This record gives sequence, C-alpha cells and structure tokens, in this order.
Amino acid sequence: MVSLTWSIAILAGVIVRLVRSSPETCVSVGTLSSIPNVTVVASEYLLSGSQIPLPGTVESCGGPDLKANITADICRLVLLVATTPSSEVQVEAWLPEPQSWNGRSIATGNGGIGGCIDYATMQNGAALGFASFGTNAGHNGSVGYEFFLNQPEVINDFGHRAIHIEADVSKVLVAQYYGKGASKKYYAGCSTGGRQGFQNAHLYPEDFDGMLLGSPGVDWLHIVASKGILARRIAIVKAQIEQLDALDGVADGIIDEPTQHRFDPTSLACGTGLLNSSLCLHPQQVESVRRAYEPIANTSGHIVYPPFELGSNTDVFSNNQANGTAALSYTILENFWRGAVYNDSSWTPEKFGERDMDFAVRVNPGQVNAAETDLTSFYRKGGKIISYHGRNDETVTSALSEHFFTGVQSALNINLEDIHDFYRLFFLPGMHHCSGGLGAWSIGNAQKYPYDQALLDPKHNALIALVEWVENGTAPDTLIGTKYENDLIGSTITAQRTYCPYPMFSNWDGVNDTSLAASWKCMPSRFDG
Ligand SMILES: *[C@@H]1O[C@H](CO)[C@@H](O)[C@H](O)[C@H]1NC(C)=O
Ligand SMILES: *[C@@H]1O[C@H](CO)[C@@H](O)[C@H](O)[C@H]1NC(C)=O
Ligand SMILES: *[C@@H]1O[C@H](CO)[C@@H](O)[C@H](O)[C@H]1NC(C)=O
Ligand SMILES: *[C@@H]1O[C@H](CO)[C@@H](O)[C@H](O)[C@H]1NC(C)=O
Ligand SMILES: *[C@@H]1O[C@H](CO)[C@@H](O)[C@H](O)[C@H]1NC(C)=O
Ligand SMILES: *[C@@H]1O[C@H](CO)[C@@H](O)[C@H](O)[C@H]1NC(C)=O
Ligand SMILES: *[C@@H]1O[C@H](CO)[C@@H](O)[C@H](O)[C@H]1NC(C)=O
Ligand SMILES: *[C@@H]1O[C@H](CO)[C@@H](O)[C@H](O)[C@H]1NC(C)=O
Ligand SMILES: *[C@@H]1O[C@H](CO)[C@@H](O)[C@H](O)[C@H]1NC(C)=O
Repeated sequence: MVSLTWSIAILAGVIVRLVRSSPETCVSVGTLSSIPNVTVVASEYLLSGSQIPLPGTVESCGGPDLKANITADICRLVLLVATTPSSEVQVEAWLPEPQSWNGRSIATGNGGIGGCIDYATMQNGAALGFASFGTNAGHNGSVGYEFFLNQPEVINDFGHRAIHIEADVSKVLVAQYYGKGASKKYYAGCSTGGRQGFQNAHLYPEDFDGMLLGSPGVDWLHIVASKGILARRIAIVKAQIEQLDALDGVADGIIDEPTQHRFDPTSLACGTGLLNSSLCLHPQQVESVRRAYEPIANTSGHIVYPPFELGSNTDVFSNNQANGTAALSYTILENFWRGAVYNDSSWTPEKFGERDMDFAVRVNPGQVNAAETDLTSFYRKGGKIISYHGRNDETVTSALSEHFFTGVQSALNINLEDIHDFYRLFFLPGMHHCSGGLGAWSIGNAQKYPYDQALLDPKHNALIALVEWVENGTAPDTLIGTKYENDLIGSTITAQRTYCPYPMFSNWDGVNDTSLAASWKCMPSRFDG
C-alpha cells in the first residue's frame, strides 16, 4: 500500500555510532550525509535554557523570528529525507544527553494542512527527558497551495507518509546515539496531529506503543468541506447557551453534555416573547439556524458529517451572516481543494457544495482521509491510546470522536471493558479546538507549551497518564482538567474538574464547590444502561 523508498534496514548497516565530537557538533555530519536519501541540514549541541533562532521558518509557521526553547541539554539534528525523487520530509531530532534521557522517544505531528514542526510538544518532551522528534510533513507552511500543486508525492507525504518516516528516523537515531533503542515509543498530536496518529495506528501499528491524540481530524475531507457548506448556514450561539446552560445545574457558560439536549430554533423566533426583539429570529433565519446544527449529507443523501454540538460557535469560519452571502474565513478549504484536489490555482470556494466534497472524498488525495477504524493490530500488540476532544470544538465537531470510538469498538467487535483496555476517550466540556475555552481544559494537551511543573502527574497530565498506562498497566480512570487565570498555564488555578472515559460522564455532586475536581464524579452514561 505504501512504497517506502527509505529503509531502516539499509540505514542501520550504514550509520556508524553517532558521537559528540565537540560541544558545537554533536554528530559527525559527514557520516550522516553518507546515508542514502538523507541530507543533514543542521547538527548542533545546545544547552538547556537557551533559545535558538529558526531563521528558515516560513511566515505561516511563525516566521523567521520564531525561536525554539531548548528545555534540556540536547543534540539537535535537522534531516531532510527524500521520500521520492520529487518529495522530501524534514525531520528534527532533539536528543537529551544520555544521562538525562528517560529511555523513551516521542514523535509529534502537525496541524491544519501541516507544514510546521510542532516545537511546543518537542519542548515538553525534551524537558521530561524524551528523545523528541518533529516533522514538517513534507512541505513548509500551514497556508498556501503551491506546495501541493502538481505534486502528488508531496500530497502523499502530508496524507499518510511523513509520520511513519519520522518514526523510522527516530528509531535509527535513538539506537545510534544511545547505543540502544527506546524502551517505549510515544506519539502526541492534536487536530491533524490526531488524524495522523489514528491513521498511523492503522497503517503502521508497530511504530508506537502509546499515542496521545487530541481533537482528531479523522474524517479530514468532510471536516474541511463542512466549513464551506456551513458557511451558508447561520448560527446563533449565545441564545442557546443562555437557554441550555443552567439545565446541567451549574450556570457557568458551559453546556456539559451537549448531546443530551435538543435544540429547537423555533423557540428563538420573534413573537414567542422568549428573546429580546433585537435577538429574535425571523422565519427564514429560524430555518438557517436549524440547518447550521444539522448534519451534512452527500449528494446521494447519506449523512457524512455529524452536526456540531450545541454551543459550538460554528459561525467562526464565516465572517458574515447578515446578508446571506457568507464569506469563508477558513483558508484550508481553498488551499487544499486548489492544490491537492483540483490542481487548479484559479479555483475559489464561493460556490462550494456537496459535489466538491464528494469529488474530493472519491479522489482522497494522499489518502488524507483517515476515517479507517480498524485498529486490530495496534490493539493486539497492546498499544494504548488516550484521546480527548473539547465539547465546544468549533473546528472538528466532537461528535466525530464519539462516532470514531464506536466505530473502532465495532470493527474489533469487543465490549466496553476491552476497548477501555487500549483506547480511552475523554470529552472536555467547554474546551475549544485542542485548547482554550471556558472549561478547565488544561490536561497536558499536545501542542501546548509549557506543562505546569506542579502538575506533572498522571492525574493531571495526559502524557504522563499515558506513560503510566503503557509501562505500569495503570489505566487513567479520570483526568483532572485545570483552568488558570487568563488561561496562562502554571499561573493561579481558578477551577479544576474531573473528566471521565467515554461513555462515562462527569456529574456534579450537587452540593460542593463546582470549581473543585472532587465535586465531579464519573457516572455511567444514560445510554449505557
Ligand atoms: C532513495 O530514494 C530513491 C527515490 O528517490 C529510491 O529509488 C531509492 O531506493 C532510495 N534509496 C534508499 C536506500 O532507500
Ligand atoms: C523547508 O525548510 C527547510 C529550512 O527550514 C529547508 O531545508 C527545506 O528544504 C524546506 N522544504 C521544502 C520542501 O521546501
Ligand atoms: C518559548 O518560550 C517563550 C516564553 O517563555 C514563548 O513566548 C514562546 O512561544 C516559546 N516558543 C515556542 C516555540 O514555544
Ligand atoms: C496539474 O495541472 C497542470 C497545469 O494544468 C498540469 O500540467 C499537470 O499535469 C496537472 N497535474 C496533475 C497531477 O494532475
Ligand atoms: C435588548 O437588546 C438590546 C441590544 O443588546 C439592548 O440594548 C436592550 O436593552 C435589550 N432590551 C431588553 C428589554 O432587554
Ligand atoms: C454582505 O456583507 C458583507 C460584509 O458586511 C459585504 O462585504 C458584502 O458586500 C455584502 N454583500 C451583499 C450582496 O450585500
Ligand atoms: C455518499 O456516501 C455514501 C456512504 O459513505 C457512499 O456510499 C456514496 O458513494 C456517497 N455518494 C457520493 C455521490 O459520493
Ligand atoms: C506503578 O504503579 C504502582 C502502583 O500500582 C506505583 O506504586 C508505582 O509508583 C508505579 N510506577 C511508576 C513508575 O509510576
Ligand atoms: C461534599 O464534600 C464533602 C467533603 O469533601 C464530602 O464529605 C461530601 O460527601 C460531599 N458531598 C457530596 C454530595 O458528594
């Protein structure tokens, strides 16, 4: 299915042991350059506490002024790996000194249409002693289409190849640098990074032992297409929150279990007296609000994308609702359909519709759509997955994680206890896409630097919970999310809440302080009997 032109078997025979030849050069560049298809762009020894400039960084990845925080004494390597004659994947490695190495490796993914190295997760990983890796997924930049235009192999790197290449490179470099392989191999990513992770567990189940997968964009093409379709449907969110919030017993701006409410936009119609007349909906608007929270069907009438959860601000991708000519303020759709789907630099999404969506799904450029639920091999070998998803996610509806979880369970035909033995999904009410929002969302999220140094334990940090599960067999029964003043991780804690593996849900005890984790208990879902 995938022709890997770069084989570690060959590499392992060629590389000689990496040695730190001087404080400036941690690896003999000449040696690495002789490896087929690998070019060394940088090799340097860096001290903890320093910052390094990344002058080659393109604007959409932070620009040439971006600096990375060096969080351990490391050997830093930047490699270009040719995947075909017309494509190459950049891989960056941060290798802590042998005496401070924790024996593990961690690889990271991307966001959106990729192209940016996830320094945040690498910084967190190296600080904890992991040999940490990042990749650009085969192109530079999270905005643009030129890199995909007439470049099917670059699309393949982004679609399904880059993380596997990163995993292969990490195996070789770890073995060479430390003289032995990593005891356990981890992966952490969010959004596209979550998609890449699930896809990797399906296609290359041997690559990782534990995966932390946030807000995964598993059905990537439908997710992106939904923006173009929903841009035409208006959304009024504030009124829903006011109506539904108090129903869970706590009026805090968070709808705890959005799936357990039904929303009828006719209740917001003018004349019902429920809403201030400046907010109420006219008949046409009632219809479009209803449509904004309806699922999306393809041209043959099959539902292909679930509705957004109530309270999610679905209008963020459309900068106009007033006159019905919604402009799409979401660049990924235009970029990907231009560069990778239609190979046409003049295409624009103004008339985007279900036909464009169905066409892309049929072509599936680079096998980017990773809605494949068969994780049998990863399950059988004992791999572990912690996944999380904000219930207020406006980019990838959290319903998708629910569907995916159920899909994996039925593909394996196993009971809840068995799926919880390798895959646990935590919903975080009030969290936006990957991080942020009114909820107590900080759980050691992927792509979020730094970690709270005071909460580096398996109860509060999902990566540490994953390590504990993989290496000690202790599965996370709960995760405690933390809310900080001004959302600054590590500053004053304003609230904490206990989260539960789906389909359990977190319920307030009805008495104690709602900002304390202990006031929230896991209960079996109503749907679980
Ligand atoms: C290097 O890449 C080329 C394609 O660009 C491929 O044909 C060749 O097999 C690769 N070599 C190795 C050692 O992987
Ligand atoms: C990405 O940028 C790096 C420099 O930061 C460069 O070495 C590499 O060739 C670029 N890759 C592509 C595909 O343009
Ligand atoms: C490095 O740390 C500074 C502050 O300590 C932060 O502003 C910056 O975003 C960090 N860089 C990265 C790439 O995370
Ligand atoms: C992309 O479009 C260009 C220009 O129209 C064409 O020459 C090229 O063959 C197309 N490539 C693919 C992969 O369709
Ligand atoms: C209705 O909303 C408008 C605009 O937000 C506000 O100025 C007005 O005071 C509100 N009226 C009532 C009766 O709440
Ligand atoms: C609709 O509103 C947007 C933003 O206010 C404006 O740019 C656009 O010209 C309007 N279109 C029509 C047809 O009035
Ligand atoms: C619509 O979705 C269904 C279910 O995935 C699929 O079988 C069908 O081919 C799709 N129709 C089109 C036109 O793509
Ligand atoms: C493994 O779990 C045991 C209790 O089950 C605990 O005492 C121990 O600290 C754990 N080990 C690690 C490395 O976390
Ligand atoms: C409230 O908290 C107290 C002390 O932590 C505890 O004993 C009590 O059981 C809690 N109440 C409920 C209803 O859970």
